[in-house]
Amino acid sequence: MKVLVVGSGGREHALCWKIALSDQVSRVFCAPGNPGTAQVGENVPIDAGDLDALLAFALENAIDLTVVGPEQPLVNGLGDRFRAEGLAVFGPSQAGAMLEGSKVFAKEFMFRHGIPTAASHTFDNREDALSFLSSGDAQVPLVVKADGLAAGKGVLICEDLESAESAIETVMGERAFGEAGDQVVLEDFLSGVEASIHIITDGKSYVILPTAKDHKKIFDGEKGPNTGGMGAVSPAPGVDHSLLSTIESEIIRPFIRGLQQDGIEFQGTVFFGLMLTENGPSVLEFNVRFGDPESQVIFPRIESDIVPVLASIAAGNLSGSLALRDEVAVTVVGASVGYPGAYKKGVPIEITRDLPNSATLFQAGTKTADGKLVTAGGRVFAVTGMGQNVEDARTAAYDGIGCVRFDGMVYRTDIAKG
Ligand code: AMP
Ligand code: GLY
Repeated sequence: MKVLVVGSGGREHALCWKIALSDQVSRVFCAPGNPGTAQVGENVPIDAGDLDALLAFALENAIDLTVVGPEQPLVNGLGDRFRAEGLAVFGPSQAGAMLEGSKVFAKEFMFRHGIPTAASHTFDNREDALSFLSSGDAQVPLVVKADGLAAGKGVLICEDLESAESAIETVMGERAFGEAGDQVVLEDFLSGVEASIHIITDGKSYVILPTAKDHKKIFDGEKGPNTGGMGAVSPAPGVDHSLLSTIESEIIRPFIRGLQQDGIEFQGTVFFGLMLTENGPSVLEFNVRFGDPESQVIFPRIESDIVPVLASIAAGNLSGSLALRDEVAVTVVGASVGYPGAYKKGVPIEITRDLPNSATLFQAGTKTADGKLVTAGGRVFAVTGMGQNVEDARTAAYDGIGCVRFDGMVYRTDIAKG
């Protein structure tokens, strides 16, 4: 089989790495990929947003399966366009992708199908949103969410009404996220521990992937601004068998029933961002793609070949199951100092010695310049360590991190700790 992976981050390196292990696969292409994906497959210089060029490439090269990394091409209709040409694609329809592409759509879906989520109010203009704040009905902390995709920056947690006011101003007044701020969701703040639960589904049946927990803040001790994720661990601490079956009955099954009742085609992954509250699990958001850096701990924990299962989903009839490795995975992200704000690019990266066998390096914001590996993004790479327990997996990941260096490299020292 020839497989095309769309995207260029650490998630896509992990995907290509796992797909390349399949003995059913003869070639793995990645568009546009990074130097890491080029080690396990072949990079194709097509931007992940260029649907015409992706489609032409898949047709010309008789690609048997396309696996989509990021959400934007799905929201732009990649799934429907590929399927209309008879191509097998792992990635939902545009309607399905709206579950991530519009927070308003996602909240309405959850309310309609009885999926637990924070109470919220939606506004399509700034004046109404501001008058809700002054109505006395708004409780703080309050979460202000731009409706559309905002590169992970559209969620603002506000401790008091003044900051909620300025968040509404940012989203709807200054239009900091453009059209994504046409509508705003004001949502109750939930406390608890977060967990990332992924399923893969053909819209009828599903397989639950290994659970994971992401560390979103830039600094140790969950301090500083939110990032795309600075590290992850799988399994997710606190998600035992019994909690997972609650998540299945209260969230996953109603979600699948909801897709069917609403006639939404969905062939891909759903990543439920959950808050485990004292009243049970509650959905913060749906994603229609694999998490990053969750992928860097999920795929290494899957023992089976994932390609036949992904291909069966793309064909519309999920079959097969996945055997998991009874090990813990921890991934630690090496980032450019300044991230998630401004940072330097083009800094040479050195691999000073071989990584331990129990660690794998996944590249993200890297590129090759004059034959040398240099930085090209905020999150530059992640090292995943595997072990019999969290401590061993952490040791492997941090030993691995110690083998890579570049000027201005920063990483959290407390991933999966405590
Ligand atoms: P989202 O993109 O909706 O997942 O939001 C990004 C992050 O904001 C989440 O991972 C949480 O850390 C936080 N968040 C979102 N909604 C809430 C909420 N209702 N209560 C507390 N934290 C939230
Ligand atoms: N790590 C969180 C995400 O991929 O959205």
